[in-house]
Amino acid sequence: MAEPIKVGAAGDIEDEEALIVPADTAGWDDDIAVFFSDGKYYALNDTCSHEDASLGDGWIEGDEVECPIHSAKFSLCTGAALCLPASHPVRTHKVEIRNDEIWLYVGVPADGQEG
Ligand code: FES
Repeated sequence: MAEPIKVGAAGDIEDEEALIVPADTAGWDDDIAVFFSDGKYYALNDTCSHEDASLGDGWIEGDEVECPIHSAKFSLCTGAALCLPASHPVRTHKVEIRNDEIWLYVGVPADGQEG
């Protein structure tokens, strides 16, 4: 398993905001959006499964993010598409806070990821 990468310090991401980790930095085939909402961290592939939009630029509420282009919603916990026009999930990645630092486990599904 790949080593986790440090993407910032706890507190670097405001509530209901996201930090984008570029694909090159992540060593992944998509940018990864790391979200902070209601005291929890989540990470998803940044590209919406419907068309080409950045979920990190979307609207975050609780454990959901709404795509900024056509308003599909996704679960931050599982990556599941919660409403049309998206019908496919987006990939989750595990995030951990250690010593007040945000660590991203690229390619390791979050605990709630289905399938
Ligand atoms: S691009 Fe995200 S819902 Fe259409």
